[in-house]
Amino acid sequence: MSNDPLLQPYKLKHLTLRNRIIVTSHEPAYPEDGMPKERYRAYTVERAKGGVAMTMTAGSAAVSKDSPPVFNNLLAYKDEIVPWVREMTDAVHEQGAAIMIQLTHLGRRTRWDKGDWLPVVAPSHQREASHRAFPKKLEDWDIARIIKDFADAAERMKAGGMDGVELEAYGHLIDQFTSPLTNELDGPYGGSLDNRMRFCFDVFRAMRERVGDDFILGVRYTADECLPGGTGKEDGIEISRRLRDSGLIDYLNVIRGHIDTDPGLTDVIPIQGMANSPHLDFAGEIRAATNFPTFHAAKIPDVATARHAIAAGKIDMVGMTRAHMTDPHIVRKIIEKREDDIRPCVGANYCLDRIYQGGMAFCIHNAATGREQTMPHTIPKADIYKKVVIVGAGPAGLEAARVAAERGHMVVVFEAANNPGGQIRLTAQSERRREMISIIDWRMGQCEKLGVTFHFNTWADANTIAAENPDVVIIATGGLPHTEVLSKGNELVVSSWDIISGDVKPGTNVLIFDDAGDHAGLQAAEFIAKAGAKVEIMTPDRSFAPEVMAMNLVPYMRSLQKLDVTFTVTYRLEAAEKSGNQIIAHVGSDYGGVAKRRTVDQIVVNHGTIPLDDLYFELKPGSKNLGEVSYDELISGAPQTVESNPAGSYQLFRIGDAVAARNTHAAIYDALRLAKDI
Ligand SMILES: Cc1cc2nc3c(=O)[nH]c(=O)nc-3n(C[C@H](O)[C@H](O)[C@H](O)COP(=O)(O)O)c2cc1C
Ligand code: SF4
Repeated sequence: MSNDPLLQPYKLKHLTLRNRIIVTSHEPAYPEDGMPKERYRAYTVERAKGGVAMTMTAGSAAVSKDSPPVFNNLLAYKDEIVPWVREMTDAVHEQGAAIMIQLTHLGRRTRWDKGDWLPVVAPSHQREASHRAFPKKLEDWDIARIIKDFADAAERMKAGGMDGVELEAYGHLIDQFTSPLTNELDGPYGGSLDNRMRFCFDVFRAMRERVGDDFILGVRYTADECLPGGTGKEDGIEISRRLRDSGLIDYLNVIRGHIDTDPGLTDVIPIQGMANSPHLDFAGEIRAATNFPTFHAAKIPDVATARHAIAAGKIDMVGMTRAHMTDPHIVRKIIEKREDDIRPCVGANYCLDRIYQGGMAFCIHNAATGREQTMPHTIPKADIYKKVVIVGAGPAGLEAARVAAERGHMVVVFEAANNPGGQIRLTAQSERRREMISIIDWRMGQCEKLGVTFHFNTWADANTIAAENPDVVIIATGGLPHTEVLSKGNELVVSSWDIISGDVKPGTNVLIFDDAGDHAGLQAAEFIAKAGAKVEIMTPDRSFAPEVMAMNLVPYMRSLQKLDVTFTVTYRLEAAEKSGNQIIAHVGSDYGGVAKRRTVDQIVVNHGTIPLDDLYFELKPGSKNLGEVSYDELISGAPQTVESNPAGSYQLFRIGDAVAARNTHAAIYDALRLAKDI
């Protein structure tokens, strides 16, 4: 038996959890019709297979119709969910893991224009900034109805084979009652702490009566809202003790902070560049004050920190939730003493931001997550080994190299630069985004173990490729900044990459025209403004930086708002002309009838990239498939069989930004889904 603190079993009431690592509740937004169908099941079971002790599925499944699924939540208020839950719990149990589900009523944290278009309810009329609904103040019949809904939902979950239910009590209805900031009720459910906690206890009592004692009930709650006038630390400790003393629940899952705004949410679930394990000591204080089973998760991405959390007795179970989105097999790798092989979570929060903007969570650098039905987490060996030549060692090229090498192929990579990384190396120039380089470092480590040959500082041409006599050539050369967007004066502008790479010095009065709306524009703005310049970020869109998304925007705003930066939406830079040592920017608008001017000393254009595809077109005539990809085969997961040029000597493919400017996830997904079938 190992003496690794993380691998010790833990007794939670009647359950024996096989180790100390859990996946905390999170809604990846994979439900179909509000049900956990095949995709959801495959995602959940993969983590159980990987060895986690318990997976808490569903980010807050909704218990009531007036808690509509604002991020595609599971609908725990429907009886038809029971058989779907049963299939998932059976499959997870078969893998030796426990499984719980989080239930909630979202209260004001939702919208009335979803689901059945019922009014949003809360213990006050105050709106939540993030979801914007002005709620109806709860009446007595609402409260009685919702308490019953919780009990009904808990009963369904028990019937579905769940080991337990956790209530979400941070930012949702339960703690909207508890917090003095959001409870304006009189009478039994408003006023004193006793009254404000009454709803929570009524719900737990009703659930316990329904599910009996042999079922885990827990609560994930904020023990310090970190808001003036809200639940503070002292109140939080008192609330924790009362929860323990109620005798109704079996563990505490500690959160610190509030989630009613994007910045608040980002402090609760910290993004890259923010400190690791920021609330671990606080969770430890709650455990010390209550001497009660305590769980916690918040940016504990690596095994060493998780081990410390358990060994130091700060908490009983450690959540590594995003870490398991990036690598579902963490525990297996710890047991096999292969911690180096764990694919690291880089805290990009692409997963979270996509829930709202893209409709479902994907991991920025594990394209198999959420696609378990079609994409493998463990790459099987090929039947026939081939020679695969890859040009470009950015995220797409390295993923292709890793996957092809896992297949058993002989892989050679050419890269023109002296380092791998491509655009990610530029991204990681920002101190705050340094963690991104792990996307590259992990792949390089894997490729080295798998015997991939690298040629850096090598500009590959058709002769270089021919000399390798390849069976397959993959062009992953990325792109170059595309700045030719003006009707006049394109030669006067620089690109966001010029600034980020340090090739061009920032000006003092700078206009950034950003209609790509991705990270590069804001990164450049930050570099320039930090150098002391005045910066205007202009976009023709309705909002700036739409591709950066909500939580990713938070650190930028925290930085840029303190500097001399202004944001201008709905205006388009049309032309530029030189005037002495200044540049006159001609500004119009897609809405028409506008002709403004700005005088600046530097214009930066952020407009994505143009594919670097010369080599691809040079190699095309000599290929068997003339570069053609069968999308049907690609999507169905079959090997590519196009052979439009039988005289050709190799298959030729192009991936990532060498095809068209997209993002890191798209580049890695391109590579995985092509290379897994070579
Ligand atoms: C895609 C996604 C959805 C989430 N949804 C929920 C949720 O509905 N309820 C909840 O309590 N936490 C939710 N979380 C937060 C996680 O449970 C966890 O607290 C958070 O990711 C921090 O832990 P980590 O750093 O180990 O990932 C979500 C996290 C992610 C990544
Ligand atoms: S997208 Fe980023 S934060 Fe989310 S799981 Fe992947 S690496 Fe971690």
